[in-house]
Amino acid sequence: HAIKLIGAPMDCGKTRQGCLMGPDAFRTAGLASALQSLGHTVDDLGNVAPDANAIAEQSGLVALPETVGWTTALARVAETAMQDSLPVFMGGDHALSLGTVLGVARHAAAQDRPLFVLWLDAHTDFHTPQSTSSGNLHGTPVGYLTGRTGFHDFPMFEHPVPCENVTMLGLRSVDAPERAALQDTQITGIDMRAIDEHGIAAPLAQFLNKVRRANGLLHVSLDVDFLDPSVAPAVGTTVPGGATVREAHLVMEMLHDSALMTSLDLVELNPFLDERGRTAQLMVDLTASAFGRTVFDRPTRAFA
Ligand code: ARG
Ligand code: MN
Ligand code: MN
Ligand code: MN
Repeated sequence: HAIKLIGAPMDCGKTRQGCLMGPDAFRTAGLASALQSLGHTVDDLGNVAPDANAIAEQSGLVALPETVGWTTALARVAETAMQDSLPVFMGGDHALSLGTVLGVARHAAAQDRPLFVLWLDAHTDFHTPQSTSSGNLHGTPVGYLTGRTGFHDFPMFEHPVPCENVTMLGLRSVDAPERAALQDTQITGIDMRAIDEHGIAAPLAQFLNKVRRANGLLHVSLDVDFLDPSVAPAVGTTVPGGATVREAHLVMEMLHDSALMTSLDLVELNPFLDERGRTAQLMVDLTASAFGRTVFDRPTRAFA
């Protein structure tokens, strides 16, 4: 692949600070060289900055104007990068996906191809600016990208991702209003209970087959808190009982074998909370698995 690394040091999607150091932690942990050594062409475009705008702060929401500024800037960068590369967005908190998926969806619409989203997260991030009680907009990107109403100050999401094209893996913290809203949708939400019972490969294989049959583009959004905090402590929103190192690698290896992924977010890494860089290193190793690092090669394939 031609891979573009794009730093998105966005830190305003919640109040706890530190994700602004994420892109440099990914660089320090050797993301570019890990991907290069797998035979990919890697171009680090540096960091994006938010657009200026005249939107007013809104009580009850954290940093609304700045979040909209990141959204418009990242959508532009994402749409451009999609034209000739596979972009990897180095966050930054999960509010950056408001922008990256907006840009990716514009590209998919221009190509006349359906967009699919794989959300790897403890949380559903399905709030709207109205339903959030924390005011943290990193809890809203799936609401935005599926076209929920209430995102008044944001650019219109012209080509919302159909709910049946969204699968979430790793869920174990869902707020009541999110759960209520999700129940009326076709979003596939795989919680840790289901993963314990059936494994992580089966629901992922089903989803990947669906993407393949539709000739879709696939955006993957990997939140550090998808992982168990014992192996990935560098995140502000730890929830016990997350994916193991092996489950996470299997997801990434299956993504590689499917050859379907067309863009990737790496989000919520807070290096201030890390232990000797172990979370950044794990995220780099997982990304390498998604781009072909393996013990024995396996051919590109559909999953049974
Ligand atoms: N649902 C909670 C909230 O709205 C937590 C969201 C966590 N999101 C994340 N991207 N880590 O505040
Ligand atoms: Mn998230
Ligand atoms: Mn999360
Ligand atoms: Mn490959």
